[in-house]
Amino acid sequence: MNILIINGPNLNLLGKRQTDIYGTQSFEAYIDELRQLYPQHRIAYFQSNCEGAIIDRLHADGFAIDAIVINAGAYTHTSIAIADAIRSITSPVVEVHISNVNAREDYRRVSYLAEACRGSIVGFGLDSYRLAIEAVAQFNK
Ligand code: DQA
Repeated sequence: MNILIINGPNLNLLGKRQTDIYGTQSFEAYIDELRQLYPQHRIAYFQSNCEGAIIDRLHADGFAIDAIVINAGAYTHTSIAIADAIRSITSPVVEVHISNVNAREDYRRVSYLAEACRGSIVGFGLDSYRLAIEAVAQFNK
């Protein structure tokens, strides 16, 4: 399968950022592990701190790619525009969060993206991405 992982703002700092919440591994190191674990999938990766760039990438890949896994970071809780972009494309999208957003501040319990996505995987650390790949690998089977 062709799978695109999109990470939103501040996720470029994984491994350095609030390590008590997000862990000490960089995403670059983690995605190497994912690619080794799933040689049968082509896993592309895009990270941006800019809402419009995330939307542009959803538009660019979202009519052809088999699945998109997105962690929109804080835009999850604010961005109707990213939610609308997910609704506007045809590729299935799964929402992912590293931390258990439901056990944190109230504002993190609101996801504008959740109802536009096929499903959400939340709170399993970086393993949330692997679980999302397991989920999308079942699509169209
Ligand atoms: C996050 C949770 C968001 O609330 C936060 O703004 C992030 C990371 C997560 O993966 O746990 O940047 O999406």
